[in-house]
Amino acid sequence: MSREPVTTAGTVAAAVADPGQNGVRPTSPGETIDVHLERVTKRFGDLAAVDDLTLDISSGEFFSLLGPSGCGKTTTLRMIGGFEDPTAGQIFLGGQDVTLRPPYKRDVNTVFQSYALFPHLDVAENVAFGLKRKKVPKREIERRVDEMLALVDLPQHRMRKAGQLSGGQQQRVALARALVNHPKLLLLDEPMSALDAKLRKQMQIELKRIQTEVGITFLYVTHDQEEAMTMSDRLAVMRDGRIEDLGSPERVYERPATEFVASFLGASNLLAGTLGDHDASVASVEVEGGAVMTVPSDFVTGRSRGARVKVGVRPEKIHIQVTGEDPDAGWNHLRARVRVSTFTGVGNQYLVDTPLGTELTVYAQNLGAATAPRSGEEVLLTWRPEHTFVVEPSDTPVQNEEEQ
Ligand SMILES: Nc1ncnc2c1ncn2[C@@H]1O[C@H](COP(=O)(O)OP(=O)(O)OP(=O)(O)O)[C@@H](O)[C@H]1O
Ligand SMILES: [Mg+2]
Repeated sequence: MSREPVTTAGTVAAAVADPGQNGVRPTSPGETIDVHLERVTKRFGDLAAVDDLTLDISSGEFFSLLGPSGCGKTTTLRMIGGFEDPTAGQIFLGGQDVTLRPPYKRDVNTVFQSYALFPHLDVAENVAFGLKRKKVPKREIERRVDEMLALVDLPQHRMRKAGQLSGGQQQRVALARALVNHPKLLLLDEPMSALDAKLRKQMQIELKRIQTEVGITFLYVTHDQEEAMTMSDRLAVMRDGRIEDLGSPERVYERPATEFVASFLGASNLLAGTLGDHDASVASVEVEGGAVMTVPSDFVTGRSRGARVKVGVRPEKIHIQVTGEDPDAGWNHLRARVRVSTFTGVGNQYLVDTPLGTELTVYAQNLGAATAPRSGEEVLLTWRPEHTFVVEPSDTPVQNEEEQ
């Protein structure tokens, strides 16, 4: 069954309704809630949009669900909000089983992708809408609306009609409208997709500031890895209804769990190879084409010699220099030829061909050096063993992944 929050005037109110009524304990500002999903599955016919998902989000955490289109992010969010019933499994908010509760009985507010403000109402009226509907006293409404407009930095626009605001301003009104209810959990489904890149960056910083100030739990859905990494305390990378990796942005970026995660979070520069010998400190990987890479031994714990793996290195970890010099002892290195060199202002981006038949991406910061390698030039690439990660190859069909 689906309880669709249609974006018409009546249902926007439902999306921002304060669950303080109907028997659920009213919330006070700053109060937070933890989220627990226990083996949640959502099927649409044959498709498992969300597949046996277990997830814990701590009180006050900024948590992001990240993944490609169709991986089940929105479906997960809608089940937590109560707009969609799970086919199997349970959902707990603040330790209470809410699986069968309708949206208005959950201590949750949602900012949907299409945030649908009332264009004919001014900013303050938009923010006040849910409170008025609940017959909160006028003074109290004014106080809370003022507080929210200050929080999202819009007090000067309070009399402006929502239809006359920029995208970023509308976004902040939508946020204020959700936060004014003092939800313990705020769900955000790609709320910045309508904004241009520069505004998105500003809003990311804003949103993180607001979340820190109000201290409530944020569950944020996006397919933009940079956005997720910028704001999140922790993030989960989803694929085909399952979580492939979960951790701090740093850990997931620097040491991704799978090839898919490595590739999804940016240019990953993966080389296929075989695990060689290892001692207590370092392990070697024989890369197809002949090179040998070194990684710290604890990066390959649980894998045996001869195992098929891929080694990866992030583009900004690679040092690029014109050949002739010897690589630093102990560093991984490859000789390569620059195919494309692109000046990006903050640096240079290089696409290089390696003798292994794999092309790699390298980012070099613009430090003002006179001699940036040019297209066609031979270069030496070097990077530290600890900047090298090892993942299972995941080029096999998706249904076999769990057997790997
Ligand atoms: N009501 C529905 N009926 C049938 N299939 C659905 C329904 N809602 C979602 N799906 C399917 O479930 C899968 C997951 O959809 P979902 O909207 O959760 O993806 P998403 O990760 O949010 O993607 P996007 O980044 O494109 O928003 C998709 O294959 C989608 O087509
Ligand atoms: Mg979605």
